[in-house]
Amino acid sequence: MIPPQPAANPAAADAPRPYRSVLYIPGANERALDKAATLACDAIIFDLEDAVAPEEKPAARAMVAEKLRTVDYGRRARIVRVNALDTAWGRDDCLAMAEVNCDAILIPKVSRPEHVEAVAVLMPDVPLWAMMETAVVAWHAANIAAHPRIQGFVVGTNDLAKDIGARYRPDREPLLTAISMCLLAGKAYGRIVIDGVYNAFKDDEGLRRECDQGRDMGFDGKTLIHPAQIAIANEIFAPSEAEIDLARRQIAAYAEAEKARKGVAVVDGKIVEKLHVVAAGRTLAKAEALAGL
Ligand code: COA
Ligand code: MG
Repeated sequence: MIPPQPAANPAAADAPRPYRSVLYIPGANERALDKAATLACDAIIFDLEDAVAPEEKPAARAMVAEKLRTVDYGRRARIVRVNALDTAWGRDDCLAMAEVNCDAILIPKVSRPEHVEAVAVLMPDVPLWAMMETAVVAWHAANIAAHPRIQGFVVGTNDLAKDIGARYRPDREPLLTAISMCLLAGKAYGRIVIDGVYNAFKDDEGLRRECDQGRDMGFDGKTLIHPAQIAIANEIFAPSEAEIDLARRQIAAYAEAEKARKGVAVVDGKIVEKLHVVAAGRTLAKAEALAGL
């Protein structure tokens, strides 16, 4: 059964904090951990999971904890990806991160709401995010999104492709059903939803294509693996000048129509209804939030 939607969600995807560019940093890479404090990304994922070799796990955990205590990451959201609780490291990761300042914990390989609940019990105070990256998760996505501690989803397209046995294609068609089910569930509950990484970090054109696709689908931003990818994600997941201009004109035209007791306006040969005005308002709020960075 699909649980009811919350009436109001303080962690709504409309919240002004941007998540256009969400950069992974391997937790054992000190140089990259320091460099991140100077990069133009909106959020950082301090990774203790797949980007860290088993023998480096305890050292990476200690280093990330130390950096979170001592480095000023400014406005960037600090998200720590812990290891899953069914591994040898997950519980210690959670306990160590409960002692430091971070903005959210990202739980890997979530398949069911119980995986979220287990971390929620260990870490009562921090917002939780779920990696949506197993073949089964799409079927449970709404129940995971409904968990009251969930603030965001990251779609893990690499693990998802591995689990399904899907091949990489530039249009991502083989993954779109699973990706869309996770996106729909997250959006239905007002969660932040971030797209998967683009592995070919020197291929700007390919990254642009995937960012365009993700933005058009409704994602709030893209996870990234390299600093060179940040500017492209920041540009594509921000409203363009043309979108801002259109939003202003839609709002103005609708206000005029209302004065004339009409429920519909026309801008550039297209109708504008109340719902378009709501979307236009979101576009302007996002643009204003970004202008204030
Ligand atoms: N975050 C912050 N800084 C990073 C970075 C990252 N993810 N990736 C690279 N950098 C830094 C490097 O430290 C280097 O800094 P420097 O110029 O001060 O020495 C600079 O950016 C240029 O790096 P470059 O030499 O082009 O990359 P690389 O060959 O060292 O590393 C990768 C390439 C892909 C191995 C590396 O970017 C990486 O580890 N990415 C993250 C992978 C990850 O977290 N995966 C898990 C989720 S999918
Ligand atoms: Mg993964």
